Amino acid sequence: MRIAIVGGGYVGLVTGACLAAHQHDVVIVESDIHKVKQINQGHCPIYEEGLPELLKEHIGIRLKATDKIADAVNVSEATFIAVGTPFDGQNIDLSQIEQAAQDIGEALTHTQSYHLVVVKSTVVPGTTDKTVANIIQSSSGKKLGVDFGLGMNPEFLKEGTAVEDFMKPDRIVIGGNDKAAQKKLEEIYACFPDADKVLVNNTTAEMIKYASNSLLATLISFSNELGNLCTELKGTDIKTVLEGVCLDKRISPILASGERVKPDLTSYLAAGCGFGGSCFPKDVNALRAFANQQGVETAVLDAVVTTNVKQPSQFIALLDDAMPELSNKTITVLGLAFKPGTDDTRESPAISVVQQLIERGAKVKVFDPVVTTLPNEIQLNNVSTCSTLADAVQHSEAVLITTAWEEFKALPQLLSQRESTVLVVDGRRVFKPSEFSEYRGIGLCPQETGPSNGSGKDSEDVSSAA
Ligand code: UGA
Repeated sequence: MRIAIVGGGYVGLVTGACLAAHQHDVVIVESDIHKVKQINQGHCPIYEEGLPELLKEHIGIRLKATDKIADAVNVSEATFIAVGTPFDGQNIDLSQIEQAAQDIGEALTHTQSYHLVVVKSTVVPGTTDKTVANIIQSSSGKKLGVDFGLGMNPEFLKEGTAVEDFMKPDRIVIGGNDKAAQKKLEEIYACFPDADKVLVNNTTAEMIKYASNSLLATLISFSNELGNLCTELKGTDIKTVLEGVCLDKRISPILASGERVKPDLTSYLAAGCGFGGSCFPKDVNALRAFANQQGVETAVLDAVVTTNVKQPSQFIALLDDAMPELSNKTITVLGLAFKPGTDDTRESPAISVVQQLIERGAKVKVFDPVVTTLPNEIQLNNVSTCSTLADAVQHSEAVLITTAWEEFKALPQLLSQRESTVLVVDGRRVFKPSEFSEYRGIGLCPQETGPSNGSGKDSEDVSSAA
């Protein structure tokens, strides 16, 4: 099918390239002309595994980019809206969605046949059927349900594995204002015959997206809260506690063969220094604000955010425990990206960690294998970036791990060459306590780097079992 995608950002690009790989003819509409050129030359403007290869393979064949929305819409049967919906602290900002709807509507005045408009951006419930529908109807003069249909098709892409997530979907949510819209959207996704498809109305599709991210964020804050408690409890390690919890067969079912299924979800029950990124913080906050506007209280989601905002401080408290005075100390922070596999630093807990260290008078060295420029929030005198792990830990008195990059695995070996003891504070629990002479980990009682953690195993054994 001929498809236009408005927005050449992370979601639009991945969606466009993957649909092209499935034999659709895709035109990406992007207002940044520099990006349009980059895409048309087959250069990938973002860091995302597998995307550069897909772009190279399909650009100029089934995939192209333009800055002219009407050209793209007029040759297409369906148009996806994949523009940003930032949260302004009170509401999600729908201005880019509104502009896209306006432009699509104007383009539709020139079309004769039925056109499907699909909202892929994350929007609060009701946006597709009210805001988008109204703007398109008034700017096109066409009638919803007759001349055009409206779909809502949320994305479930994780940064770093977005291409794989698109190509091997866990579900495809097909929202539509009516059966005709759903049917057209189903046609687009017919190339994924084995995927579970959820056929719903648009408002339910919008809700599924927010509910999905909110559940995951809730599990993370839950794990972090319990992890903070374990830090205070002699003999406990959050990893062991959560392993025990996850053996509940409603979480990890036992098959008739006796084999235990360990769902990926159990990895979300892992304590750390907090969640970040462009989705969880924004989506949970947007859902809270929306619910409150409907007169619905969100005590659970409020607590999810509060716990998360405090988590970087909980992490620093581990450092304080071993090194109460930070003034003029050289501290290394390993990781700026909000998670491994991406160069995205938006809402990264590492930013808050660096800010707090600076406020306490520390000299901070940061290293991230992919992020080489400091985010604006921490472009400060007392922060320097390093280009290698070895540089980053040189002369440092404490090393804090904020992102679980594989590249940091060389740390024990590097620190073992140092004459003086270096404190390691692990905000992602990537190391075994025994790999360092002085170690603190989120959710692990500091005294408990020795024998018993309640499981009868060493903390070290538990870490390796996890
Ligand atoms: C998230 C969802 O996982 C996707 O399903 C969704 O499509 C996407 O948002 C979106 O709405 O676009 P993403 O933000 O890329 O994807 O990253 P995740 O891998 O989910 O991680 C989010 C944050 O949670 C990261 O900061 C990560 O470090 C943190 N996290 C994750 C934890 O702190 N603990 C965990 O156990 C797992």
